[in-house]
Amino acid sequence: MAKTYQISDGNTSSELDLVEGTLGTPAVDVRGLAGTQGVFTYDPAFTATCSCDSDITFIDGEAGKLMYRGYSVEQLAEQSSYLEVCYLLLNGELPNKTEMDEFRDAITHHTMLNESLVKFYDGFHYDAHPMAVLTGIVGSLSAFYHDKTDVRDPEHRKIFAHRMIAKMPTIAAAAYKHSVGQPKIGPKNQLDYTSNLLRMMFAVPAEEYEVDPVAAKALDVLFILHADHEQNASTSTVRMAGSTGANPYAAISTGIAALWGPAHGGANEAVLNMLAEIGDASQVPKYLDKAKDKNDPFKLMGFGHRVYKNFDPRAKVIRGYCHQVLEHYNMQNNKLFELALELERVALEDEYFVERKLYPNVDFYSGIIYQALGIPVNMFTPMFAIARTVGWASHWCEMMGDPKMRIARPRQVYTGYDLRDYVDIDKR
Ligand code: SDX
Repeated sequence: MAKTYQISDGNTSSELDLVEGTLGTPAVDVRGLAGTQGVFTYDPAFTATCSCDSDITFIDGEAGKLMYRGYSVEQLAEQSSYLEVCYLLLNGELPNKTEMDEFRDAITHHTMLNESLVKFYDGFHYDAHPMAVLTGIVGSLSAFYHDKTDVRDPEHRKIFAHRMIAKMPTIAAAAYKHSVGQPKIGPKNQLDYTSNLLRMMFAVPAEEYEVDPVAAKALDVLFILHADHEQNASTSTVRMAGSTGANPYAAISTGIAALWGPAHGGANEAVLNMLAEIGDASQVPKYLDKAKDKNDPFKLMGFGHRVYKNFDPRAKVIRGYCHQVLEHYNMQNNKLFELALELERVALEDEYFVERKLYPNVDFYSGIIYQALGIPVNMFTPMFAIARTVGWASHWCEMMGDPKMRIARPRQVYTGYDLRDYVDIDKR
């Protein structure tokens, strides 16, 4: 017999159904409550609310496990490639060889930007944060593809996803070139996804540029690990914007804006700045005390997670990968990495962090690798945005294809005034 929950205010009671997925915590279906009991449910910051059904990504936060479409992220990082993972997230299955070739070809042939869009960059000041530029440029894509995107048409949705995944490296690299005053470098079709990105960022017209395959592979692994993370803040933002029927490029730009915050994807930049500020292992206890002090706004960036109450599996893979990358670049004694390891060691033994189950998250170690690859600190969050684009697009496509989709519209507990009379300005 299906399990139900009973809710009663003493006079009337309602039976609430349980919604069960294939894995994970079941959810109580509270949709009828307002009608039967005259109450809403209260859950600011959505700590206990499932906003949708999804078969894309599963996290077991207690065990520290993450799967895309049923495949463990560790196995994908080890054996797959970012573009293959993109196909998997978008389509639900790993591609066969023909499907993969067609997908790679589709992505490769959508990498260029409309020349009118390229002119938009000149409107940004040279020191604009690249995430601000990304938000603007991606939002502007909606002006280029507005009449060609029918959100109800699966074929249009597929082309949108391909365009987005293809253009993000070009858009982000151009934001970087704008910030350093160098000419923008266009995509080269014979290069793979991350090699192309590295070339568009670091090549200059005056010299030949050879992509370092170790750097391209390291970026590819990082991108796999960042590709999706179920209903995180930026993905939920994309879903919310998309639920109105908004243009999908505009919806993705809302995700980029949400990702930029230091509590979310902006943490990778904040971690590097924090490590630079701490400076030395001898300062670690002082900064841990600051992080524990409720009167001090300082938080240990790259630590803690809403869902993981155990190691973030992505942080484990990245930490292991840091060793390999630093060794390749003869940077074994990298001070920031040593400091990060020491901070992690001390925090994981500290009662405050142990009690609250605060572990390093995906953003804690990624910046060390980005830095070793020569990627400037203000481009760390754009790297996350490029990788997460497939997650945003997959969730948007899943939602738009769901016949149950309705506009997302939360309710509130009102705490303001009751009705009062307008007072003329002279009498206030
Ligand atoms: C990402 O959601 C996703 O899936 C996101 C993400 C993805 O792939 O999409 O995984 C990517 O956003 C990773 C998170 C990056 N952010 C940071 O590293 C910033 C630092 N961490 C936090 O501010 C915080 O831990 C969050 C935002 C990540 C989670 O916030 P929650 O779930 O609201 O947890 P909380 O703030 O309520 O913390 C619970 C307790 C509190 O203490 P008490 O009030 O119980 O005494 O733990 C404390 C917090 O003060 N705490 C920290 C801390 N994080 C939480 N204390 C010191 N340093 C920290 N980093």
